[in-house]
Amino acid sequence: MRTPVRLVGVGAVALLAVVAVGAQTPSAPGANSVLPWAYPLNPPAPAGAGRAGGAAPAPAEDPAPLRVPGSTVTLTRAQLRDLFNPPDWHPDNHPPMPDVVARGRRPDVRACGFCHLPNGQGRPENSSLSGQPAEYIVQQMRDFRNGLRASAEPRMGPPAAMLAIGKAATDEESRAAAEYFASFAYRPWIRVIEADMVPRTRPQGGMLVVVPDGGMEPIGQRIIETPEDLSRVEVRDSEASFLAYVPRGSLARGETLVTTGGAGRTVACTMCHGEDLRGLGPVPALAGRSPSYVVRQLYDMQAGTRRGAWSPLMKAAVERLTTEDMVAIAAYTASRMP
Ligand code: HEC
Ligand code: HEC
Repeated sequence: MRTPVRLVGVGAVALLAVVAVGAQTPSAPGANSVLPWAYPLNPPAPAGAGRAGGAAPAPAEDPAPLRVPGSTVTLTRAQLRDLFNPPDWHPDNHPPMPDVVARGRRPDVRACGFCHLPNGQGRPENSSLSGQPAEYIVQQMRDFRNGLRASAEPRMGPPAAMLAIGKAATDEESRAAAEYFASFAYRPWIRVIEADMVPRTRPQGGMLVVVPDGGMEPIGQRIIETPEDLSRVEVRDSEASFLAYVPRGSLARGETLVTTGGAGRTVACTMCHGEDLRGLGPVPALAGRSPSYVVRQLYDMQAGTRRGAWSPLMKAAVERLTTEDMVAIAAYTASRMP
């Protein structure tokens, strides 16, 4: 029944090496990804296509100005891809951005607002930053810089891009970004739906998108997190939210694990992350945040690729978790009001 996903010590390194060799095989891209639904691997880019670390807009360059609902801003397709001046469709939904968030610094510090969005709401392939404690954000940047935080799936583009940014950002830049994102609240962003059957999806830009006319398939032990409106997410609209299909029964199972530790299976997360999972002191908030991101973090910590200064505090929480446990936990935390 249980599918152990633990990868420890030398075994993990060996297994990852095998996975990396598998990547050379031209057929079936993504087939070897650890938890392919949580770490979606993009199909190989068509020759000449740029890589922006997120859902790529259609390659055909259309000069016509674009708009999104609820905004008077107009942008061209080329502007959507500017890593050093990312689209800000809703300048009124966030405070003024510090330089590092709005522009970054060439060549290596891409603007934080490109991937995490100007309002820090984040997307399934990265993470939400708004409302997280500043000290926590600063610590994560140190961990990236010190090579203590990497993805268990090194071929997944967006986390690899973050690692490079974390290595290049200065303390001042990290602090400025941290204080900005910590200064306002994270808003409800993900609608969690228990389901047996889900629309068929495929990876695009590190997230799962629905295959048009693709029909339905069983959910299995997966979380399918996908845009509510793909066309708005493709243009990086910071008001375009997500939905997450989770297996039936996972919310109740997750609640037990998160609030009680499930009779020794794990430890009550609420002890450190707060009764309402909205964070406690420097410990990050989990409520309402991307469940695929949360699964990746639990998996990375269990596999030992995320081993930052504070990660040992998570050891007892993750060491015995199965994939099914992680799915249930993330389904529940995502369903809570931030
Ligand atoms: C190319 C896209 C991209 C850009 C630009 C980017 N990030 Fe990230 N960021 C990511 C991804 C992807 C992750 C998730 C990494 C993982 O899975 O471990 C992440 C994770 C983080 C985290 C960890 C969040 C948590 O809850 O632990 C912090 C902090 C962070 N980014 C800060 C920044 C800052 C500050 C900047 C600007 C200097 C920035 N990021 C720019 C993609 C990006
Ligand atoms: C003893 C305190 C403690 C307990 C108990 C605990 N956590 Fe954590 N958690 C932390 C700390 C501290 C961090 C930051 C770790 C780091 O910096 O690497 C963290 C980080 C996380 C993250 C990463 C968040 C992000 O934004 O990247 C997730 C997900 C998480 N915890 C989930 C859980 C779950 C689920 C449980 C219960 C099964 C749990 N935690 C129990 C202290 C705890």
